Amino acid sequence: MTTQTAPASPDLPLDMIIFGGGGDLSARKLLPALYMAHVHGNLPADTRILAIGRRPWSRDEYLSFMEEHSKPFVGDKVIDAAAWDRFLALFEYVQVDVGSGDDYARLAQVSRPGVRRVFYLATSPNLFTTICDHLASAGLVDEHSRVVLEKPLGSDLASAQAINTSVGTHFNEAQIYRIDHYLGKETVQNLMVLRFGNAIFGPLWQAPYIKSVQITVAETVGVGSRAGFYDETGALRDMVQNHLLQLLCIVAMEPPVSLDPDAVRDEKLKVLRSLRRMTPEDIAHDTVRGQYTAGAVGGEPVKGYLQEDNVPADSRAETFVALRVHINNWRWANVPFFLRTGKRMQKKVSEIVIEFADLPFSIIPSGPRNYGNRLVIQLQPAESIQLQMLAKEPGSGMHMLPVNLNLDLEQAFTERRAEAYERLLIDVVRGRLTHFMRRDELEAAWAWADPILEGWKQSSDRPRGYTAGTFGPSAATTLVARENIVWAEES
Ligand code: BG6
Repeated sequence: MTTQTAPASPDLPLDMIIFGGGGDLSARKLLPALYMAHVHGNLPADTRILAIGRRPWSRDEYLSFMEEHSKPFVGDKVIDAAAWDRFLALFEYVQVDVGSGDDYARLAQVSRPGVRRVFYLATSPNLFTTICDHLASAGLVDEHSRVVLEKPLGSDLASAQAINTSVGTHFNEAQIYRIDHYLGKETVQNLMVLRFGNAIFGPLWQAPYIKSVQITVAETVGVGSRAGFYDETGALRDMVQNHLLQLLCIVAMEPPVSLDPDAVRDEKLKVLRSLRRMTPEDIAHDTVRGQYTAGAVGGEPVKGYLQEDNVPADSRAETFVALRVHINNWRWANVPFFLRTGKRMQKKVSEIVIEFADLPFSIIPSGPRNYGNRLVIQLQPAESIQLQMLAKEPGSGMHMLPVNLNLDLEQAFTERRAEAYERLLIDVVRGRLTHFMRRDELEAAWAWADPILEGWKQSSDRPRGYTAGTFGPSAATTLVARENIVWAEES
């Protein structure tokens, strides 16, 4: 798929129009990110932000909402009272019932003519089609417009295709920014540099020199106030189909010919298309679903998932997933990729562990057998890269012990690190598509995820319980143990 080029429109004023302006994502992520972009001079001089919501708020009421729900997420250390006031001056609030054509006509009167409009749809994906149809009918979409679609885009391949098709009747591919905020993380972008800016790993980055790859995104938070969304969604749709697969793509892709959007996305697409589709037997054997039960996280007692507000008593939503995944291509034949994510886990950590092949033969009698060096790339909370290797223990014998070569990237670079949403919003404004998903990429990810979702739906099994504050059900340990592998925290 080739993305046509959108007009650069560098000098046009910006109307940033946020649907879901009174929602949780806007409050916690988008508005703080826009504030930071504003403070650092990364929004065009003549910018306005139109927050769209259902509630019959006045502008002042919306600003009070921001004061109470958004400002705390900017953080005391960086907030500057005068800059915050200048930021608030950019805002208008427009009440819109997304199904009412008249409301879009009013919006068209508020949005300025001749500007670049960025529509950020921070709403349920069920509304994307309706919103885009109405925007187009109200004459709000032109060649300078861009639309940002939040994940999860659809709930399966068919719904994703339907959304892509209908949005695509009003916006061409170069105007569509499908956001996956993991692609905006500094650390995730740094993965590309680790792989393609350093020659040393290149020859080893393939079977048989790599024995396995682990990708873990563990969270300590529970479902919080998002049960309505989460219970319909579950961890596979919320985290794996997008964030974890995107990480897998960056680890597994071939070097792109350049950093141009299509060059990078073509390579990621090839990985997604090479993922081995799971059969019902694979689903039984290679997937583990879990749901947290009451326990303690960080010393504090927490409820089980089924006791959370607004969760149905018989919910089968998975809050944990572990998978053994295969990539059917020359580079990765027979190298298992273990993907794992969960809520209410023991600690918050996102990391990628590349485990290299075992020693072919050890001439040194004392020391670990079957040792494989590991490259541990921690994405959050700390940003670090460790190479685990064996070294001689000081003393008269030849004893080997594991040690780490450690690179702490936060010490190496002390500059401010923009949050993912800030970086991605700036990319949208500047028309840079590299860190957004293309239509075919997204659909390939759903095509792989669909059979798993279907297999789970058909199964009479419930997700396995795991105590909050652990690393998930014991079946996840068994999943890797079958290949003589242990999860990073157990090694
Ligand atoms: C979001 C999911 O996409 O990512 C949330 O919807 C999850 O459920 C969040 O908590 C995790 O993001 P981060 O940046 O905190 O790792």
